[in-house]
Formats: sequence, C-alpha cells, structure tokens
Amino acid sequence: MNFAISQPVTTDRLVLRLFTADDLDDMHAYQQLPEVARFLYRPPRDRARCAEVIERIGQGTHWKEDGDNLTLAVCRRDTPGVIGEVQVTLASAYARQAEIGWVFHPDHGGRGYATEASLALRDLAFQQLDVHRLFARIDADNTASERICERLSMRREAHLIENDRDDRGWGSEYVYAVLAREVAPAGTD
Ligand SMILES: CC(C)(COP(=O)(O)OP(=O)(O)OC[C@H]1O[C@@H](n2cnc3c(N)ncnc32)[C@H](O)[C@@H]1OP(=O)(O)O)[C@@H](O)C(=O)NCCC(=O)NCCS
Repeated sequence: MNFAISQPVTTDRLVLRLFTADDLDDMHAYQQLPEVARFLYRPPRDRARCAEVIERIGQGTHWKEDGDNLTLAVCRRDTPGVIGEVQVTLASAYARQAEIGWVFHPDHGGRGYATEASLALRDLAFQQLDVHRLFARIDADNTASERICERLSMRREAHLIENDRDDRGWGSEYVYAVLAREVAPAGTD
C-alpha cells in the first residue's frame, strides 16, 4: 500500500499532520533534551540531525515494506507550533505487525496530549494501514509510557530482563500490544 496522509487527523484538542521544514525549531526544542532522549535508545538530536529527519519523514510514507514509517507532528488546536510527535513503523508487512511510539516536549506533559495523539494514531493504524497487531517496546523504567500503553488498551505481553545496556548499565524492557479486533468494530482482523 502506498499511504499518503492527505488530510490532517484531528482530535478534540490536537491536529496530527506531516512535518514541514518550518517545524525544525519546534522539533529540535524537544529532541535536543537529554531527558527526552533517555528512553529512546539513542543520543539527543542536534539541529542538523533534526533537519535530516524532517526531510525524510515529511514526505509521508510507503506502507509496504518492513521498516516503512509514518511520523506525524502533533499540534494543539488552540496554539501554534509542534508539541511532539507520534510514529508507527511497519515491523512485518507479511504479518501486519506495527510498532507505535511517542515523543513530546516536557513543557506539554501531564495533560493527556500524548495519550490523545497516540489513540488517534492507533485507530489510524488499524483502520487505514490494515495493521493486525500494534505493539510498543518501552524501557521498564518508563512509567509514563507504561500508562499510555494501558490507556491504549495494550496488554503487557513480555518483560525482557536486562536485554540491553547503555552507559548507565543494563536495561529491561516491556512489550505491550493490542490486536485490531480488540479495539475496532467487529469483522476487523
Ligand atoms: C512518554 C511521554 C510522552 C509521556 O508524557 P505524559 O505527559 O505522561 O503523557 P500524556 O500527555 O498522555 O499525559 C498523561 C497525564 O496527563 C494527565 N492529564 C491531565 N489532564 C488531562 C486531560 N485533560 N486528559 C487526559 N489526561 C490528562 C493524566 O492523568 C496523565 O497523568 P498520569 O500519567 O500521571 O496519570 C513523555 O514523557 C515523553 O515524551 N518522554 C520522552 C520520550 C519517550 O520516552 N517516549 C517513549 C519511548 S517508547
């Protein structure tokens, strides 16, 4: 499937749309923060790296091959600017498995925006991208993301013990997942 998001996705308080070059400052504002990168398994991003990323993700996506990715900028409807992003990545095209993720500026935390945007992307993944199973891999210390997974009706399917390491030591992960038929209208598989 070639998926191009033609219209922004709107929720009660948010608009989700593709990134444009004008969003560089807003993306850099949260992607440069060490506390934001802490659970992302990579270093904070500098401005040049953010520009490269926007160049790549701003086109939308093919939704056909393993690794294809849709990343959407999240904006408040009442205020200009990007407050964060949500992403979905095709992990297995054959088995229709996709991974969801979220990254938000801490200035906009604690108000349910990440949950609201992720719910909209979950529904888009099931209804428009034909995903069968949506999963998230989160650091076991990432309690805020754990709560988002639960609000997305995902179940904890695995606790991987010390399956990774970084300069702070060993890290453990949870795998959360939900099936299309568990949250979508009857008949969806
Ligand atoms: C993970 C992350 C998005 C969570 O942010 P968050 O602010 O906790 O999540 P939300 O925006 O969904 O806000 C949820 C909180 O807002 C509260 N809230 C306040 N007003 C609300 C409202 N009107 N509606 C819904 N929730 C509301 C909720 O009760 C909830 O608080 P709780 O978790 O203490 O119960 C953020 O910490 C982040 O970007 N971290 C760095 C990147 C990262 O770790 N990504 C995940 C990698 S897998």
